[in-house]
Order: sequence, then C-alpha cells, then structure tokens
Amino acid sequence: MKIVVVGKGGREHALLRALSESPEKPELYCFPGSSAIFQIASPVDADGLESLVAWMAANAIDLCVAGEESYLVKGEGLANLCEKAGIPCWGPHLQSAQLEASKEFAKLFLERHGIPTAKASACETLEKTVAAIGGKFPTVLKFDGLAAGKGVAVCMVEQEATDFLDEVFVQKRFGPGRVLVEDFLTGPEVSIFAAIVDDRYLIFTPARDYKRIGEGDAGANTGGMGAVASRKLIPAELLAEIEKNIVAPTVAGLRKDGLPYRGFLYFGLMLTPEGPKVIEYNCRFGDPECQAVMPLVKGDLAGFCLAGAKGELKPELVSFDEGWSVCVVLASAGYPESSHSGDRISGLDSVGDARVYHAGTLLNADGVWETNGGRVLAVVAGGENRHAAVTAAHAAADGVEFDGMQRRRDIGILNFTD
Ligand code: AMP
Ligand code: GLY
Repeated sequence: MKIVVVGKGGREHALLRALSESPEKPELYCFPGSSAIFQIASPVDADGLESLVAWMAANAIDLCVAGEESYLVKGEGLANLCEKAGIPCWGPHLQSAQLEASKEFAKLFLERHGIPTAKASACETLEKTVAAIGGKFPTVLKFDGLAAGKGVAVCMVEQEATDFLDEVFVQKRFGPGRVLVEDFLTGPEVSIFAAIVDDRYLIFTPARDYKRIGEGDAGANTGGMGAVASRKLIPAELLAEIEKNIVAPTVAGLRKDGLPYRGFLYFGLMLTPEGPKVIEYNCRFGDPECQAVMPLVKGDLAGFCLAGAKGELKPELVSFDEGWSVCVVLASAGYPESSHSGDRISGLDSVGDARVYHAGTLLNADGVWETNGGRVLAVVAGGENRHAAVTAAHAAADGVEFDGMQRRRDIGILNFTD
C-alpha cells in the first residue's frame, strides 16, 4: 500500500509513525514533509496542489491522508482533486472543510442542526461589531477565516476588543472578512476526534491541549504547548452525552446538507455549566493532540483510513489503549510571537521509551538536529495512569535541550484535581 501524508509538522510526523506501524508496512510518502519526516517517508516531487495530485496519480498512490487543513480549502480542494483523479482521500471535500475555514459557516451549521454552541452574530464593519458587542465584556471575537490560530480574541475588557478590531478592520492583518461576536463561555475544554465515513463514525481517544505559552495557562495563545489524552479523560456518561448531542447530530447534519465527509473531524468543546458546547470544528486531527493520541491507537490505522476513504467504516481495524499519554512541546526562543532557528538540539537519544515527534527541526550539513520553527519537538510518553504518563513524559523531556528552549512543566498536571 502506498500512502501520501500532506503536511510537515509534529502531527504529520505522528500520523506517519502510526501508519508505519500498521501490519501491512505501507510505503510512505510526504508532501511537503520535513527532515525528520523524510527519515520515514519519501518526499513527493511536487510544488503545489495540482502537481501533488498529478504525482499521486502517476505513481499509483493508494491513499492520500490530509494531515493539515490548508490544502483542503486551496484551489479546488485536495479531496475534490483526489476524487477526480480516482485517489481515495482521508480528509473532507472543500465544501465540507468550510466548517473549519469559515467560523460563520460553522456557526450557521451548528444553529441549523440544533447543536449546542455559544450564541453569535456576524458583522462586516467595525461599527457593526462595536454595536453587537454592546459594551458587554467579556466577549469573544472571531475572524471569519483561517488565521493560523490567531483569529480569535477572548476579550476580558474593552481595550482588548479595540486592539483586535484594529488588526482586523484597519490593518487588515488577516485579509478581508467578517467578525463573529460570540458569547463568552466558561468551563474546561476537551478535544474530541471522530473518524467520519459518510453517515457513520468512530470516536477516537479524547484529549486536552494546553494553548497558552506559560505555566498556569498564562500568556499568549500558541498552537499548543502540550496535550494529554486518555479514554478516561472524561467520564463515560459525559462522552455519551457528547456523542448524542454533538457528534451524531453533526454527522447527520453533514448528510442532510449534502456535505461529503470522509476523514477526521475535531470537535473543540467547552464543558460549560449548561453542558458541553462546540467552540470550533477543525477538519483534521489536532496538533499537538495527535502526538498524544497516536501512541494509544493500536491495530491497523493504514487499513482503517484506506477503507474509510473508500466509504467503509471499519472500527474493528483499530482499538484504543486504556492508558494515558502526555505530550510535552519544546518551543524555540521568541515563540509564539516569533521563532528562532539554528539552535543545536542535544539529548535526542536520551529519551528512552518516549517518542519524539519533530515539528520544527532541520538536520544540518553536519548531521546535527537544529531548531527550525516555533514549536520544535513534542516528547510523548504513556502510562497506565495519568501520574505515570506525566512523570515519564517530563523525565524524557528533561534530557532534551537547546538554547532558548521554552517548555511548560505543568502539562498533564494543570486542570486535574486527582
Ligand atoms: P478557537 O480558535 O476557536 O479554538 O479559539 C481559541 C480559544 O479561544 C479556545 O480554545 C478557547 O479557549 C477560547 N474560546 C473560543 N470561543 C470561546 C467562547 N465562546 N468563550 C470562551 N472562550 C472561547
Ligand atoms: N490543538 C489545536 C488545534 O489543532 O487546532
């Protein structure tokens, strides 16, 4: 079996590792990939979406796996082009990926199908947005488009809203687009991942990520400084409620609206006092949640994704470890505002049984790994219980070093009471 994974980060490194462990030992390719990914997957010789699909067709690729979201909504859409070329694709069509690409599309979808979410209104000008806020704080402002994780402002006070609206409407930092003014919700967050195949689905291991740069959830929002995953992260009754009120109606809604979906769908939820509510959909696995979840997935992930991309959900091909997994992200100096490249990384051989996924590294001409991005590495370890996984992951991360390294020591610890 020949598989191409699209993307270049830690999530794709983790997906590729999991695919490589499938019993059939698939032949793996990646686009665009990274130095670390090239050690387990061969690079595809392409320079964009069209040439990628042409290459896959010419090279008899059996399956394309969309790791990152951007290609799903570029041009005609990765999945749409794959379909035309007769290549099974694990990742949704352009029309369906609007659930992630447009917050307004997602909000209308949620409302139309009666799925619990925060109330919101869409505004096209600065004046209308200010009127919709109505002087009520806290409030949440969301730019209606892909903004690399920077398009959401949780505004506790008016000045924060003023600054964000200046970026959107005056500096036009994210390009043209409307803003959603959304009710402020409270409660712990949880990430739920469903593998959807048309009208059927399978829920993978729930996870939680740590989005802020600093310990105690202080400081700026990042792509994620770590994650914890376990079947036991939330009680079984709560997961059943989430399935009944959120996952099942979403899958039914996609069918009703004629939105084809074969791939992972990520439900970003807040467990509010009134019950779980959707704060966002992402049409892919989470990053860094994927790095925490994948080591818990057993069986034949490659066969599962291939069958799914062809329209058959085969839950019997995978199972989920009952234990816990903790992922500690190591970020470079300056992240998240900037990043620092060229810092030599030491200790990569010291991690023992832990897994190291590369997000932003480069193998330099001397054969030494160096930093090459904001989030650099994810160190992941498991255990029968959360404490064991936390201890193992942090101990493994202790061995890895580079200049200016940023790391949170409360990953897997903060927001737990036991
Ligand atoms: P998003 O990019 O939609 O995941 O939002 C980023 C973060 O903003 C989320 O992980 C939440 O922590 C926070 N957030 C988003 N929507 C809300 C909301 N309605 N109320 C409170 N916090 C929110
Ligand atoms: N961990 C958040 C995301 O993948 O969007």
